[in-house]
Amino acid sequence: MKQNRVEFTFTVLDNSGELEPGDAALLERAKEVTAGAYAPYSKFRVGAAARLLNGQVVSGTNQENASYPVGICAERSLLATAASLFPGVAIDTMAITYAGDFVKSDHPISPCGMCRQSLQEAESRGGRPIRLILGGQEGEVFIINTAADLLPFAFTPTELG
Ligand code: THU
Repeated sequence: MKQNRVEFTFTVLDNSGELEPGDAALLERAKEVTAGAYAPYSKFRVGAAARLLNGQVVSGTNQENASYPVGICAERSLLATAASLFPGVAIDTMAITYAGDFVKSDHPISPCGMCRQSLQEAESRGGRPIRLILGGQEGEVFIINTAADLLPFAFTPTELG
């Protein structure tokens, strides 16, 4: 019998002022696009912006639906946009932020489980890590080195043979 441990290291910044300029611009873009989220039900608007390896920046927002499960998160909206506009181009870094009518946006949120699964496959398709910059409109910012860190024991395409 043996026991294994899963752990990962991530960076915590006091605020977005400590980000290097490229990452700061990406988080700014994510904050801007948050205003375009369609979230009349949750009133929780999520914005994501990613820099691709070709230098292009793409964004995504959550898009809800009166039939609630039909809604899509900002992260997967971004991944679909990036793969549609720039097929085969890997994502280098994605920034994710939010603004809510009922919550203060003063700490990072991290992607939901379904988005983690999508991020993990986008990362393996791209063949390189997707860095994540997570932050609210203010407060601490987390830098995750690879999206795979957020989904230990991921179910991957290799299982399908
Ligand atoms: N949401 C995202 O867009 N990304 C996440 O990682 C967490 C949740 C959206 C889904 C829904 O529209 C709203 O936030 C509340 O759950």
